[in-house]
Amino acid sequence: MARTSFVAGNWKMNTNKATAVELAKAVAKGAPTRVDVGVAPPFVYLHAVGQALAGSKVLLGAQDVYFEKNGAFTGEISVEMLKDLGVRFCLTGHSERRHVIGESSALVARKAEAVYAGGLILIHCVGEKLEQRDANQTLQVVQAQLNELSRKMDDPARMVIAYEPVWAIGTGRNATDQQAQEVHAFIRQTLGTMWNKDYADRVRIQYGGSMKPENAKSLTSQTDVDGGLIGGAALKADAFLAIVNAAK
Ligand code: 13P
Repeated sequence: MARTSFVAGNWKMNTNKATAVELAKAVAKGAPTRVDVGVAPPFVYLHAVGQALAGSKVLLGAQDVYFEKNGAFTGEISVEMLKDLGVRFCLTGHSERRHVIGESSALVARKAEAVYAGGLILIHCVGEKLEQRDANQTLQVVQAQLNELSRKMDDPARMVIAYEPVWAIGTGRNATDQQAQEVHAFIRQTLGTMWNKDYADRVRIQYGGSMKPENAKSLTSQTDVDGGLIGGAALKADAFLAIVNAAK
């Protein structure tokens, strides 16, 4: 099954308006059409970055969303508001939202449901903490996070899973090719039982966690690794584009 790799930059709480626009323009200019490419800036720069990407194939993404449609939810942003700004994909379940901000699995599930129901591409993040890996609980943890997804999400083209081992995020210590492939294969197998094999074969599974130009080629050449979700290295256009170009 030939899947188009998808490399997305998660800018987290970085950049300012000027550097966000500059970075977006450089990515738009250098991105190849062979691979799907996206960037997820902070909410407040979505509009400016969307304008900087206009006319390019680079997808605009959001790092978070709230599941309600509108109303008295101070500080929150809805799927419709994101779509209004041209957002095409949205992350859910990022480890920083789960473990730093303290989002529950139930909240993550409601957000994923809202993203999918709103017609956006969902990038649902899963991954174990170091103590869970050490206790041989990796697959169990990932399985539980996949169970946050609803069987109603029946279009594999709008379903992306990002495997991001928590111990590899921002640490400079990436998963080995074998560690990544093992979990990615498990994710695909699990999607096959949740939906069916054809569905599972179409879903892109990104690796995230200290991916950089030096390790991108070998990680993304693994059978079940279909691109990456990039943090730190996505903040420099050259490094990000090198990763994009390394993807199969
Ligand atoms: P780093 O690439 O900085 O490790 O971050 C990965 C990540 O969390 C992307 O969502």
